Amino acid sequence: MAGRRIRIAIIGVGNCASAVIQGLYYYSTNPEKEGLWHPVVGGYRVSDIEIAAAVDIDARKVGKDVSEAVFSEPNTFEKYFAIPKTGVVVERGLLEDELNPYLASTVKPLKRDRGSIVEYLRENRVDIAVNMISSGLDKSSLAYAEAAREAGASFVNTTPTSIATSPVETEKFGERGLIVVGDDLMSQLGGTALHRGLVAFLKSRGVKPVKSYQLDVGGGLETLNTMYEDLRDFKKQVKTSSIVEEVEEGWEVVSGTTDYVDFLGNNRTTYLQFSAKGFMGGDFTINVSLRSNDGVNAGNIILDVVRAMAKAREDGLSGNVREISNYGFKKTLERKRIAEATIIFESKYCR
Ligand SMILES: NC(=O)c1ccc[n+]([C@@H]2O[C@H](COP(=O)([O-])OP(=O)(O)OC[C@H]3O[C@@H](n4cnc5c(N)ncnc54)[C@H](O)[C@@H]3O)[C@@H](O)[C@H]2O)c1
Repeated sequence: MAGRRIRIAIIGVGNCASAVIQGLYYYSTNPEKEGLWHPVVGGYRVSDIEIAAAVDIDARKVGKDVSEAVFSEPNTFEKYFAIPKTGVVVERGLLEDELNPYLASTVKPLKRDRGSIVEYLRENRVDIAVNMISSGLDKSSLAYAEAAREAGASFVNTTPTSIATSPVETEKFGERGLIVVGDDLMSQLGGTALHRGLVAFLKSRGVKPVKSYQLDVGGGLETLNTMYEDLRDFKKQVKTSSIVEEVEEGWEVVSGTTDYVDFLGNNRTTYLQFSAKGFMGGDFTINVSLRSNDGVNAGNIILDVVRAMAKAREDGLSGNVREISNYGFKKTLERKRIAEATIIFESKYCR
């Protein structure tokens, strides 16, 4: 039923959320401006999305209107667009994990219990909860998924915690007729997408990639958080297996966030190197560097995914809707090449 409003809850008012919220207001008032990948998804325009609720645990954000919280420390995503007062005040979130030392050094948590989050989401008639909390907080992300289900909301998981890729979790959403998509957002043009795209291009030219690596340097709270060794290894695994979806056997790939540089803010520099073999085994070496911004890279994908979910729900789909997960996320249940995943998504939702 296009024309209906899509009421979303922002779970984690960080840099991604700042991009999504600024983009939401910017393209709602300037729909013809450049940069919006898909103006209409599932029959919905960006102006059909509205912020119904928001939670965070950081004392610097809790209690502020969302329009102010997105520009509060430690967020570094630039102010592209002044947002009008939304009337949605950031409420305390839940926290069921211990913060690693990197997060604990910057965030002084304010929290509440799971039951009251369910009430909060329900009272605010949330259709879709968008989980954008710091990665590595697995118990908290799972608790938000449970709270969303109980409140009758579908769920987007931008974090690497296994939720949309967990058969148990997906089934629970499916039983309630709700949708879950994820896991771990794939940036529109981040290191993973570029890496995968270049592999596909080499193959389309009959050249065989044999080795490649990707090193990232970024700023922002999430990169600082990723300096925690266990999380860094885990994210490296997720990125590497996403890239591996593009190739056949016999290729070595390494990918991962490597370092935190405070003054980069929400920007990131990615270095890619490819070795490939061509005619008579001749060598090709390609070096590429990409300067990008994490928030900019998240905006289009999240706004697309939310609108596609609203349409999928109207069409009676539930559980993990794979064509949405394959389009927008790195860790998925199904192996799909990036170009194919995009074509399928666009053919279903963007006509
Ligand atoms: N392009 C991208 O930005 C991108 C790409 C892939 C994945 N992701 C994932 O998206 C998520 C958000 O990224 P970001 O750059 O906005 O991070 P961020 O660090 O800027 O923001 C995270 C926010 O979540 C809040 N938070 C932490 N624990 C919370 C809890 N238990 N409840 C409520 N709020 C909590 C933090 O206070 C902060 O405001 C991360 O998990 C990241 O891995 C982002």
